[in-house]
Amino acid sequence: MTKSTNITWHNTTVSKTDRQIQNAHSSCVLWFTGLSGSGKSTVANAVSRELYRQGINEYVLDGDNIRHGLNKDLGFSDHDRTENIRRIGEVAKLFVDSGKVVTTAFISPFRSDRDQVRALFDDKEFIEVFVDCPLEECEKRDTKQLYAKARRGEIKEFTGIDSPYEAPERPEITIHTEKITVEEAIEQVLSYLREQNVI
Ligand code: ADX
Repeated sequence: MTKSTNITWHNTTVSKTDRQIQNAHSSCVLWFTGLSGSGKSTVANAVSRELYRQGINEYVLDGDNIRHGLNKDLGFSDHDRTENIRRIGEVAKLFVDSGKVVTTAFISPFRSDRDQVRALFDDKEFIEVFVDCPLEECEKRDTKQLYAKARRGEIKEFTGIDSPYEAPERPEITIHTEKITVEEAIEQVLSYLREQNVI
């Protein structure tokens, strides 16, 4: 018997579209940005929980957690924050490729860094969620007691104190956490996702 020649091995790869079809929903990143204490993690986690409850494939990437592992070599200089956000952007892209709705909760203070991440994605895959809460309110909450330390000079380069925060100019969603409840914030994000036919 003559062996076949000129045969090629076909790697059957599963595409992002295949995964989205299987999931019966689209995938995207909900990129939360805002000051420390503005409520990013609270709202991002609440949104994810509700998506999970509705059977949506979701995942949360959270600043404090990622800085314990993947990015534990990074500090809070401008350079390190840029690298922090670049890596998270790449990770978020993998999650979107895997078919998930991924929420990220990082201060991500620099507009250019957020725009670089946006550029990694197709139109409508990157949804910037500005958690807009005045510095005075974040400082009053001071859930982690970090503003007090920053004011005493015990933490350097603290966002809002001696390191800048550049607010988004055209975020897809703006959440005023000092004016609405967490439930209302969840509904605001989910209704956007429904309007955009993500879910
Ligand atoms: S980012 O600026 O690089 O996006 P990221 O969201 O990962 O920051 O981490 C912010 C968290 O780190 C804050 O919520 C706070 O708990 C902690 N933190 C420690 N030092 C600082 C600092 N100098 N500025 C801001 N946050 C800090």
